[in-house]
Amino acid sequence: MTDIPRHQADLVVTTDGPLLTCAAEGGGLGLLEGGVVAARAGIIVWVGSKAQAEVELSLAGDARWVDCGRRVLMPGVVECHSHPVFAGNRAGEFQMRVGGSEYEEIARAGGGIMSTVRETRDASPELLLARGRRHLDWMLDYGITTVEAKSGYGLNTDSELRLLEVIAELGRTHPATVVGTFLGAHTVPLEYKGRADDYVDLVVEEMLPRVAEANLARFCDVFCEDVAFNLDQSHRVLQAAKEYGLVPKIHADQLSAGGGAQLAAEVGAVSAEHLDYTDGPGIAALAEAGVTAVLLPGAVFFLGRTDYAPARALLEAGVPVAISTDFNPGTCYSENPFLMGTIASCYMGLSASEVILGLTRHAAGALSMEGQVGSLSPGRRADILVLESEDYLDLPYHFGVNPVAAVFKDGRLVRDRSGGLVSAGGLVSAGKPQAAEDKLGRAG
Ligand code: NIG
Ligand code: FE
Repeated sequence: MTDIPRHQADLVVTTDGPLLTCAAEGGGLGLLEGGVVAARAGIIVWVGSKAQAEVELSLAGDARWVDCGRRVLMPGVVECHSHPVFAGNRAGEFQMRVGGSEYEEIARAGGGIMSTVRETRDASPELLLARGRRHLDWMLDYGITTVEAKSGYGLNTDSELRLLEVIAELGRTHPATVVGTFLGAHTVPLEYKGRADDYVDLVVEEMLPRVAEANLARFCDVFCEDVAFNLDQSHRVLQAAKEYGLVPKIHADQLSAGGGAQLAAEVGAVSAEHLDYTDGPGIAALAEAGVTAVLLPGAVFFLGRTDYAPARALLEAGVPVAISTDFNPGTCYSENPFLMGTIASCYMGLSASEVILGLTRHAAGALSMEGQVGSLSPGRRADILVLESEDYLDLPYHFGVNPVAAVFKDGRLVRDRSGGLVSAGGLVSAGKPQAAEDKLGRAG
């Protein structure tokens, strides 16, 4: 026996291929060729090489040993910007856009976000919950284990609260970790047409206090844009949000340049999102204030536009760059984060490593959750993806498909797409194989 203290694990996942820790130490992907990640009670307790595992790990009596062959292991994807709770869909609107109509033109005519608002206000909480769960299920299929979910399709006090309650219920009942964001300032509802300031009064004086009192959201977001709220109005909402203990986020410079990035810096937002039209001064402001940029290339793609965010300039300025789906019924109806990664590679020049870090560590940063998710390192949740691939370069390369073979969430196997290997005891087997028992010390 050795004196080296052993970490006791009830889940050990190993690969002979690459394990990407995505941990902040070292700065890059944290690649371990032939890596092992070990967890206990849903929390990662140890990460290292197979050789180290022999001396540093011990197995609990009911431990599960998972040999993934040469498959890539990486952290669960953190979806840090999505709008997954709504009723209806906008397939018809998509056809109008395909036919040449502009998103803003449709919005000004009372369609767009407002058409989803009308259907969402009329929907029962049960329907919203069932629909939201289906989208989170799709996300989990794609390895998304943490989801930021925004309200914003209610736009009156009761409906906004109902959406946040549905989001909270999803958090209690879905395997994914769900984080709520209040987006009462998503657009000016029809009944306030021409009276945006009065609607901002309602958001600030009635909605925000109720949201804060019921503890229904960690973040407050605002759509700062010509078709939604101007800089002053956005500033008012985010300033008030801070007073109620909510952390600011902002949809900034999505459809036009408007100073949203500077506003994010000024109010101390944790993240600024979209940034498709952000220029040099905006980038400098984000860098200076340490704001994470959340880039959403799927929305640019799906709107049929070509103005992608200046990702390379953001990275060169030292801004952490996260990538997310922006899943919503209008500008990006896709739950596939890896597709967003490929779009980011093709149109923003992001490398495979930059995409993977954008979907994990930096996305966690956009939620102030680096200590809990986004990397395979001790103390983080055991959210582990097994990819159907031996090389992480395949992620942006093999596009439009689902590269995920299996998903562990909080140490529990919640998805197995490995073609029956798990149930046959190949990829994943209950208990540990004899060889492991020989190699690893016994618990206690
Ligand atoms: O992020 N920009 C504002 N919100 C969404 C679009 C919402 C919608 O069209 O329903 C976005 O693109
Ligand atoms: Fe959005």
